[in-house]
Amino acid sequence: MTKKRETWKSHWGMIAAMIGTAIGLGNIWRFPYLCGKYGGASFLIPYIILLFGIAIFAMMCEWVLGRHTKREPLGAFDKIKFPFGRDIGAWGVIGPFFLYSYYIVITSWVIFFIFASFEGLYFGKDTEVYFSSFLGSKWIFLVHFIAVCLTSGILAMGVQKGIERACKVMIPTLFVLLIIVAIRSVTLPGAGEGIEFYMRPRWGGLLNVETWIAALGQVFFTLSLGMGAMLIYGSYMKDEWGIPMNALSVTLGNTSASILAGFAIFPAAFALGFGRVIGSAESIGLTFFVLPKVFEVMPGGHLFGGIFFILLAFGAISSAISIQEPAIAWLKDEVGWSRKQSAIFTGIILWIMGLPFIFNGFVRGGIGEKLALLSKMDIIIAQLAIPVFGIIAIIAVGYFMKNRGFDEMNKNARVKLSHTWLKPWIKATVPVFIALLFILSLLKILQDNGIIPIVIPASQGVKFVSIGITPMTILAIIFICLIFWGGFIYSTVKVLTIEKDKKGRVSRGLHHSR
Ligand code: ALA
Repeated sequence: MTKKRETWKSHWGMIAAMIGTAIGLGNIWRFPYLCGKYGGASFLIPYIILLFGIAIFAMMCEWVLGRHTKREPLGAFDKIKFPFGRDIGAWGVIGPFFLYSYYIVITSWVIFFIFASFEGLYFGKDTEVYFSSFLGSKWIFLVHFIAVCLTSGILAMGVQKGIERACKVMIPTLFVLLIIVAIRSVTLPGAGEGIEFYMRPRWGGLLNVETWIAALGQVFFTLSLGMGAMLIYGSYMKDEWGIPMNALSVTLGNTSASILAGFAIFPAAFALGFGRVIGSAESIGLTFFVLPKVFEVMPGGHLFGGIFFILLAFGAISSAISIQEPAIAWLKDEVGWSRKQSAIFTGIILWIMGLPFIFNGFVRGGIGEKLALLSKMDIIIAQLAIPVFGIIAIIAVGYFMKNRGFDEMNKNARVKLSHTWLKPWIKATVPVFIALLFILSLLKILQDNGIIPIVIPASQGVKFVSIGITPMTILAIIFICLIFWGGFIYSTVKVLTIEKDKKGRVSRGLHHSR
């Protein structure tokens, strides 16, 4: 038990791992689709407000909990003497298991589609029928097994040699591949309408409660909050790395990938005649039958389809490992198992937990029936469970750690956050905002399932009528890209340079801010 705790080896490795947990299926599919559905750039406004006003603070709180206690979720809540700390912390280990169980099933489809794209297996076929028959085929068992082995294998190698090394390769590669696919997409003749659909504000969306609920779900999901992942990754952070600037860098990096993903998907879909279908896409399943149609008619589609699914797989695997890690850390730290034993054991349990979603794919009926279990689990986990654990982590830091928490957030940070506004913000504003949107989200789920009468008026829909790309739209796009991509590159370079500069001087100890 007195063994030295694992940490990230390098600062850049830590950022890559953090961005790795954040970037995943949520960025490459969910973000662009929500932007399209809720009014393009007018979805970006609630998204940005909630991301930088709320979610980034929630992420910093999870890092604080992890780094201050140097424990996995159970130990972390216990150490700060949170009431029922171990029971609540247990959710940070068990909850991610449920998330992983279906997340890895989707990841396994992605792995299959890499192969299917390069080989052109779905070319010339009805892609919906193809995907549906894939769900009921023996291949799904094989790719699911491979996906679970991949994440367990990476985790068995440890924090530095497994997670950090894998993310240092996967994340930069993902960005490069995403840029290649985005360039291909925006340079197709007729791509303009897709760019317009994705980015042109349709202001009706901004006043729609549903847009805000969707944006809250997205910011939590995309930053891997409330999943134990950021808490456990935070526990591997070295004390000399300042939290605020690193949080900014990770958030900007994550959002850059999301925005880029939209440019990879919508322009190509509209240019090749699938814009309306993809724009009204409801489920992750559509990635596997609408996008393949796009790749089928795209010049060089075998290659670009393969590349797209590789980058999606990298994002999904780098997220899935972070969701499996809390349980491994618990078994290792508290039960005393070795990392390898813990990785194998969790791998077996998670493989079994994924089987019901796979067997669901064998039922008769359409895609909706085959994905019914997975969709239900996604609603329960992503919209209900995650925000609750997220709020608890914020309350733990704001009310139980008090000054220790705020000091930890500013420890060794060049850019310190003033306690004057940080305290009321974390203690009151952030949890109240999340709680409000959570209640609205719950009401919406209950009303959608006919359990309560309608309390949130149905969305009027945000109609898209192309008026052609205007200079204003182009300016807005350039502005958005500059803010996110420029900000990401600037803050990451800055934070890494500060680090070099600071080396040797950190031994002076804690810096407290007031
Ligand atoms: N943050 C991960 C994703 O977006 C879970 O997929």
